Amino acid sequence: FDSVQLRHSLLSWYTQTGRNLPWRNSRDPYQIWISEIMLQQTQVKTVIPYYQRWLETFPTVKDLAEADLQAVLKVWQGLGYYARARNLHACAQQIVQQYDGVFPNQLEAALSLPGIGRTTAGGVLSAAYNLPVSILDGNVKRVLARLRALSVPPAKSLKSLWQLSDILLDPDHPREFNQAIMDLGAMVCTPKAPNCSECPWKRHCQAYLLNLQSEIPMREIS
Ligand code: ADE
Repeated sequence: FDSVQLRHSLLSWYTQTGRNLPWRNSRDPYQIWISEIMLQQTQVKTVIPYYQRWLETFPTVKDLAEADLQAVLKVWQGLGYYARARNLHACAQQIVQQYDGVFPNQLEAALSLPGIGRTTAGGVLSAAYNLPVSILDGNVKRVLARLRALSVPPAKSLKSLWQLSDILLDPDHPREFNQAIMDLGAMVCTPKAPNCSECPWKRHCQAYLLNLQSEIPMREIS
């Protein structure tokens, strides 16, 4: 199991094939944080126009912190899961009061904010500050479950999946690595009919080598 080769092939694929998404042109932790919260439960193509309108309405953490909750919810309208918008507003006030208006660059501090879990914290800290914090969203779980041909549903192997995400993360390029593995899950290692022939990891993927890519990740039996 060769992390060095996996990183290299993934980053080279990402450089050629990765998506150009609006938040990827930003290093502003506020902008990246907004994108990560919107992307938690909403598809990329839906998020893009909301993201742009949000930043026009609330260009900085301070603008968001000082806005009325009603105005915040109005800009969120249509994205669903409104707790995310309430948390963003509360979070902005906490960031202004406790962190001088700058999204914290420490994992523990980020995790203490409302609505920020490990994956969102990793998404923001890696993209904004290039810090080596791993992520494990739905796409990454599927990619890693296939890579290792895990024979249990991801929900039953979260500990191994997090370990794997930690081991694989490129310590020299955490920003690009996290974006790249999300794109691999969204563009190649899709839930149905994955495009294994185009995959930079096909020579390493246990599911592909065993022809089990349509069986993995295992589904939860109810
Ligand atoms: N989903 C969550 N974060 C994302 C990102 N930065 N790019 C694409 N999809 C994502």
